[in-house]
Amino acid sequence: MKNKRILLIIGGGIAAYKCLDLIRRLRERGAIVRVVMTGAAQQFITPLSVSALTNERVFTELFDLNDEREIGHIRLSREADAILVAPATADIIAKMAGGHANDLATSVLLASDKPPLIAPAMNPRMWLNPATQRNVARLKADGVRFVGPDQGEMAERGEAGPGRMSETPDLIAALSAMLGMGHSGPDASGPLSGKHVVITSGPTHEPIDPVRYIANRSSGKQGHAIAAAAQRAGARVTLISGPVTIPDPAGVDTWHIETASEMKAAVAGALPADIAVFCAAVADWRVDNENGQKIKKAKGAPPPALSLVANPDILKTVASLKSGRPRLVVGFAAETEKVLEHAQAKLKSKGCDLIVANDVSSATGVMGGDRNCVHLVTRDGVTSWPEMGKDEVAQKLVEELARLIETGVANQPSAAKSKSKAKARAGRGDAAKNARKKKVRK
Ligand SMILES: Cc1cc2nc3c(=O)[nH]c(=O)nc-3n(C[C@H](O)[C@H](O)[C@H](O)COP(=O)(O)O)c2cc1C
Repeated sequence: MKNKRILLIIGGGIAAYKCLDLIRRLRERGAIVRVVMTGAAQQFITPLSVSALTNERVFTELFDLNDEREIGHIRLSREADAILVAPATADIIAKMAGGHANDLATSVLLASDKPPLIAPAMNPRMWLNPATQRNVARLKADGVRFVGPDQGEMAERGEAGPGRMSETPDLIAALSAMLGMGHSGPDASGPLSGKHVVITSGPTHEPIDPVRYIANRSSGKQGHAIAAAAQRAGARVTLISGPVTIPDPAGVDTWHIETASEMKAAVAGALPADIAVFCAAVADWRVDNENGQKIKKAKGAPPPALSLVANPDILKTVASLKSGRPRLVVGFAAETEKVLEHAQAKLKSKGCDLIVANDVSSATGVMGGDRNCVHLVTRDGVTSWPEMGKDEVAQKLVEELARLIETGVANQPSAAKSKSKAKARAGRGDAAKNARKKKVRK
């Protein structure tokens, strides 16, 4: 960050106060911080506090004769090494997506010669609103990078969900990653350069009441490792993560969600993509009637019965899209028995191009662990890899995805159906039994 010129555009949201700490932390790291504040931002924090922290004047007006003579909106944007919009309101995001330039902030953004980093902050309903998701998808398609929003409690009482602005360390990590990459974005020579990859990771939490939920043991380690590997391969990556305790991969645009329904909405917002990898352990069911209040134990009363309903099938929904289907749709199958048999059935029933199957029975230690042993199941047969670290699985999988998308094999109707059937028969039984029979690609 030393001597890097950061232009911070502060929008009019409650999270604007967090920028005061952000400015301090950036300056501690040697960055030179210039700030543009929208009119609404000045309702939340004052230019005086901001300029005291930046030790620079704060820019607020588009039509300021002195500014335009000294340092106009073009220079403001061109002189920056990176532009961060934080908090990015729904309004700024909409204006950017529409190419508006009716104040200093949006004029700077439109005149910029580098893609900015956007840190959205808003109420979950505003974030999940189809209009906002459309605008975000538009900007992402234009190469704009996002950090957050995070999941959690809002400043408004009783509101929770996706929409919290990312915390200062995450903003700084994303800025550093962006600066480290230069303004051209991800590695332009990587095998996935120019591709957009959407990846889901981690578990989902399905609420029973405000304090209890249904979950599973997924740690997100495999999905996050795939996101990092895809980014190294030059892809623009959108990672949609359920609640996990591991950090977001540096520089990867990570959206945090909680439930399967939120994950489905986030995936819809993240598309279009060239490749979609559904690694998340999405809960199959959710509680039919989430209780608004904590369910109380009543003396002598039987335990409450939970009535479950099916969650949306995200993999099947995306794999069967009539228009806008990613060229390569990859599902994961976490099985505790008959791994290959179940994976082959899943490949067929979901209509995806590839299933990565793994045995997650407790003896394998895969769920939450650092190692994995996977089988790649396509219409052409099964390829089994030896046990490896999850990072290595991710790296090899990304290489395989690059190969599949390059050769166009992924979406071809199966020319080898009979071969596939024979292999499928050979592949039945549990993973351990079949490991001996399968070819192992090193
Ligand atoms: C108390 C209050 C809090 C607000 N918080 C947010 C917010 O967190 N995110 C957001 O997108 N809009 C929020 N708004 C609405 C924006 O301030 C409003 O859309 C404004 O026009 C944004 O202007 P700007 O995008 O130019 O900064 C809030 C409004 C009020 C009155």
